[in-house]
Amino acid sequence: MASLLYLVFLFAFLPFARSDDATEKLLNDINKYRTSLNLSSFIENDNANCLANQIAKQFKDQPCTNTTGANTIPGTEEQFPNYPDLLSHCDLNTEVTQDAAIMPACVPNLDTDDLLSNFTKSQYSGSLNDSRFAGIGLADEGNWVVMVLSTDTPTGSLAPATGAGVVLNAVLYCYLVILFFALVLLL
Ligand SMILES: *[C@@H]1O[C@H](CO)[C@@H](O)[C@H](O)[C@H]1NC(C)=O
Ligand SMILES: *[C@@H]1O[C@H](CO)[C@@H](O)[C@H](O)[C@H]1NC(C)=O
Ligand SMILES: *[C@@H]1O[C@H](CO)[C@@H](O)[C@H](O)[C@H]1NC(C)=O
Ligand SMILES: *[C@@H]1O[C@H](CO)[C@@H](O)[C@H](O)[C@H]1NC(C)=O
Repeated sequence: MASLLYLVFLFAFLPFARSDDATEKLLNDINKYRTSLNLSSFIENDNANCLANQIAKQFKDQPCTNTTGANTIPGTEEQFPNYPDLLSHCDLNTEVTQDAAIMPACVPNLDTDDLLSNFTKSQYSGSLNDSRFAGIGLADEGNWVVMVLSTDTPTGSLAPATGAGVVLNAVLYCYLVILFFALVLLL
């Protein structure tokens, strides 16, 4: 019985075990940083995650230099011609992403200390300490991490997406139902 229960729990939570230790650690560190500034912690935003993922894939094969990622000279940020496609892949448009912040960083092997300082000790710190930002999405590809911050306003909420969030909720719901019936069987 006990091992059955264990199996049920294992299957119920398996899909949520994050393999992405670097971004998970970064999220923790960034939220500690927010707390130290007396600001609210960032809440994970599925649509921001989706967009971060799309953008990270664009950067993936680029090498880290002193003019990429957090070292980019403001005004020379890389523009992707397929940006509208990346947005629509996440069911987003330019209106709801207007005030969002998109921050790529390149750190060899995603070293966690360098990663944190690439965000807190660079031009990005101005966004991290900005109380308008409330949501966060993070993704990594190769040596790149992309952070997307969202606001609670219509022009930065990254709101009208359905896709990923809905699927995840459906999966969660399904697992909860299975878990419920498994527990009923055990009682
Ligand atoms: C945060 O709030 C505490 C208590 O209100 C205050 O002592 C501290 O100076 C504040 N820190 C910052 C960075 O504003
Ligand atoms: C980047 O590095 C190159 C060569 O290592 C150097 O010449 C250049 O001045 C550096 N640029 C910046 C912005 O630090
Ligand atoms: C970001 O990380 C790179 C690679 O580790 C490092 O060379 C650079 O100094 C870091 N930048 C900041 C602002 O911490
Ligand atoms: C936020 O960051 C900006 C840019 O780094 C800085 O000028 C400002 O003093 C910071 N504000 C707070 C409250 O830390």
